[in-house]
Amino acid sequence: MLPREITTERLLLRVPVPEDAQRIFASYAQDMEVTRYLTWRPSKKLADAEHHIHDRILAWRRGNICAWSMIETKRDLLIGMIELRVKDGVADAGYVVARSEWGKGYATEALMAVIDAGLALPEVERVAAICDVENLASARVMEKAGMVRDGVLQRHMVHPNIAEEPRDLYSYAISK
Ligand SMILES: CC(C)(COP(=O)(O)OP(=O)(O)OC[C@H]1O[C@@H](n2cnc3c(N)ncnc32)[C@H](O)[C@@H]1OP(=O)(O)O)[C@@H](O)C(=O)NCCC(=O)NCCS
Repeated sequence: MLPREITTERLLLRVPVPEDAQRIFASYAQDMEVTRYLTWRPSKKLADAEHHIHDRILAWRRGNICAWSMIETKRDLLIGMIELRVKDGVADAGYVVARSEWGKGYATEALMAVIDAGLALPEVERVAAICDVENLASARVMEKAGMVRDGVLQRHMVHPNIAEEPRDLYSYAISK
């Protein structure tokens, strides 16, 4: 069982609550720069973020995806989200940070914490993550968090904000 709350030096990672949707919509879900390398298009309405949060709250109950809202504790401000999807001994990580907060080390701090939490589970052998080969900031985050690049997954996934064609991805992992 992954912890519902994780505390780091500057962050509280906690289970999402419905009220998070408003802040997510206002701070990053509509942002073309934030969504560029993601699988979803920028949101046009608050209901999209509400649906996403509702889904992540239900996912905790189902136990298939564990998503945490990333709260910067000093300002008590939601600045992003991070999640782990645990399946077949692998915990796949994904994360997003609002553009105003980029470059302050928050994604790395959060990723390191969820890697520790993931690897602490007896059934998890490795924590893995993927990113578009052009998403250099995300690749850097994984490297700073101690993950190692396994290789390139060719034409693996569509990132619809860039093109309809499947994109090459970097695959990273860290194991026990
Ligand atoms: C990727 C993302 C989560 C990084 O968040 P962050 O909090 O800014 O990350 P950090 O500050 O911990 O680290 C970012 C690192 O990338 C580096 N970086 C940023 N842009 C870069 C670029 N274009 N080329 C190379 N390195 C870059 C930063 O310099 C920093 O490295 P450093 O500490 O060695 O200087 C954030 O940019 C984001 O939310 N992007 C949109 C969503 C996304 O792509 N999520 C990942 C999907 S795989």
